[in-house]
Amino acid sequence: MSVLTHTSPRTGATAGVLAYLVSAGAILLLMMVFGLAMRLEQAQIISIGANHFYELMTLHGIGMVGVAALGGAAIMWHFLRSTSNCRPRCSSPTWCCSCSASC
Ligand code: HEM
Repeated sequence: MSVLTHTSPRTGATAGVLAYLVSAGAILLLMMVFGLAMRLEQAQIISIGANHFYELMTLHGIGMVGVAALGGAAIMWHFLRSTSNCRPRCSSPTWCCSCSASC
């Protein structure tokens, strides 16, 4: 929230997009490690057991699909803010379009 209220809309959006992208990258790497662990289990190089395998598979599946949504939102945010004049209001969680007031 402080990102939206204590900086200019453009700076706030840039910081938000960066935060989304960095988070998405970190989660993607973690999910890749989970996927690799599952492949190693299937190749019988490591042994984590069926229960842990399916726990990892659930985390991996949900994480990969979720991270695609997070990354997609960041990319849409990046391009929308350069083509739209809508922005967050100062000290309010609402947005305004074509408003002239600036913080
Ligand atoms: C480094 C890349 C990846 C590796 C090594 C990997 C590996 C795996 C493995 C070993 C499984 C279990 C398959 C089985 O035994 O049936 C799996 C399941 C799955 N993966 Fe990946 N995967 C990767 C990337 C992705 C990506 C990019 C996505 C989606 C965008 C994805 C989505 C899923 C889903 C939805 C499942 C099924 C989960 C479930 O049924 O609970 N994976 N993956």
